[in-house]
Amino acid sequence: MWSANEATSASSTDLTVQAKSQNWAVEVHDLRKVYSMGELTLEALAGVSFSVRAGESVAIVGESGSGKSTLLHIVGALDSPTAGQIRVGGLDPFRGTDRQVSFFRNKHIGFVFQNNNLLPEFSALENVAMPGLILGQRFEDMRQRALLLLERVGLSKRADHYPGQLSGGEQQRVAIARALINQPVLLLADEPSGNLDSRNAANIHSLFAELNRDFQTTVLVVTHNQDFANSLPRRIEMRDGRITADSGT
Ligand SMILES: Nc1ncnc2c1ncn2[C@@H]1O[C@H](COP(=O)(O)OP(=O)(O)O)[C@@H](O)[C@H]1O
Ligand SMILES: [Mg+2]
Repeated sequence: MWSANEATSASSTDLTVQAKSQNWAVEVHDLRKVYSMGELTLEALAGVSFSVRAGESVAIVGESGSGKSTLLHIVGALDSPTAGQIRVGGLDPFRGTDRQVSFFRNKHIGFVFQNNNLLPEFSALENVAMPGLILGQRFEDMRQRALLLLERVGLSKRADHYPGQLSGGEQQRVAIARALINQPVLLLADEPSGNLDSRNAANIHSLFAELNRDFQTTVLVVTHNQDFANSLPRRIEMRDGRITADSGT
């Protein structure tokens, strides 16, 4: 399956994705997720099917509780489905041991949460470099790539600052840089601008568009922001665990 050697093949200054040759970044077929709570069961995903081409940028919209986060977590291999098939970059993320699933997630998927989840005791640069170091990459290579990414998100002067010294918008930009350090096939974001004021939110929205354009990273983003959703080339709408509209089909 995956070997650690694979991780060292790309140059540290090439920030484009490695899996461009794959036509499909995501293929999901009849995905179901049932949560059981004692006697109660709740079907958070009730049969979701869609595919996303490599390099596409897609917004996922829908009311609260419609299953958006559940879907994103499964696509990001953070949570497993109850039933259905999933491929990311042509591969089954859930194949293999827990360790192999973690490796897959770290190497191939970048995740940006609403709450940036930065490690407070590490600098911006260290936070960005961390997923690469976990993969076993050389520190100097990761330091260089992290600096490039911080520059790309407009934070080159903040590399040595700690998360507590950065604004919410800056922290979120660090989280985006961190999500890209391993040149993932897929960048997933769950309401990345949900905690930001409108100006900082707009900056984050244009950053996603630029990163998608410049690095050909496939982007799947859950958002409640209408303008952001409408600015993306494709929108998938969810309701009650199902896709009710998909502008890409
Ligand atoms: N860990 C969980 N246990 C039980 N129910 C859950 C869990 N996570 C989500 N749900 C339920 O699944 C449904 C979909 O949730 P979610 O995917 O978070 O929706 P959204 O992100 O669209 O707001 C909701 O009814 C929610 O309460
Ligand atoms: Mg959610």
